[in-house]
Amino acid sequence: MKVGILGSGAVAQSLGAGLLKHGHSVVLGTRDPAKVSVWLNEHGGAKAASFAEAAAFGELVILAVKGSVAVDVLRSAGASELAGKPVIDTTNPIADAPPVNGVLKFFTSLDDSLMERLQRDFPGARFVKAFSSVGNALMVNPKFGGGQKPTMFICGNDEAAKQSVGGILDQFGWETADLGKAEAARAIEPLCMLWCIPGFLRNEWTHAFKLLR
Ligand SMILES: NC(=O)c1ccc[n+]([C@@H]2O[C@H](COP(=O)([O-])OP(=O)(O)OC[C@H]3O[C@@H](n4cnc5c(N)ncnc54)[C@H](OP(=O)(O)O)[C@@H]3O)[C@@H](O)[C@H]2O)c1
Repeated sequence: MKVGILGSGAVAQSLGAGLLKHGHSVVLGTRDPAKVSVWLNEHGGAKAASFAEAAAFGELVILAVKGSVAVDVLRSAGASELAGKPVIDTTNPIADAPPVNGVLKFFTSLDDSLMERLQRDFPGARFVKAFSSVGNALMVNPKFGGGQKPTMFICGNDEAAKQSVGGILDQFGWETADLGKAEAARAIEPLCMLWCIPGFLRNEWTHAFKLLR
């Protein structure tokens, strides 16, 4: 699949490397392609371009930028370049204020989520929340004791888009728990807070969530 990744940070680079490993083609979107020259040298086949060029390239788009600039970046990418495409939303609405006792602050409330805002502003894009509640080092084929598969909680309004994202999650070694429509992002996004607490309190960053049945 041709994947346009909006972002050049840790998440963009981890998911980009994973996609290349599994045979997909990747263009990273950034304001400054020179920033990722080292990564591009180490990851043959990938390219860097503007947000709009990366979005235009992707049959599937991944949004991997700071939550507070997500709307601006999608605007730069262009609503018409996103229309009809699955867009994996990895972002979290993390506020600029520091964590309190290891608990991050969000700029959304429990009756709203960043992904719902994005879906309202870009109705043509088919957003799927995924990868938002695990550290980038564990996003691609993570290894856990006993060979256990971790669970990725996803949501979004478009069933076909969620199927495409589920295919990538399979390749990346995750079991997928589909929690329904966009409103479920109100519950999924705060999992990022929960995931980060052991990290901030005890420097433990190597866990993931699993749904037991
Ligand atoms: N880090 C993790 O392990 C992790 C795990 C799960 C979810 N997440 C979420 O994933 C998203 C990406 O995280 P990250 O750690 O990879 O990177 P990040 O530091 O949160 O964001 C970096 C990206 O944001 C863009 N950006 C920052 N300010 C901008 C502005 N004013 N205008 C346009 N673009 C701007 C940068 O664009 P340029 O390339 O142009 O500089 C860069 O691509 C975040 O929402 C984060 O909460 C992160």
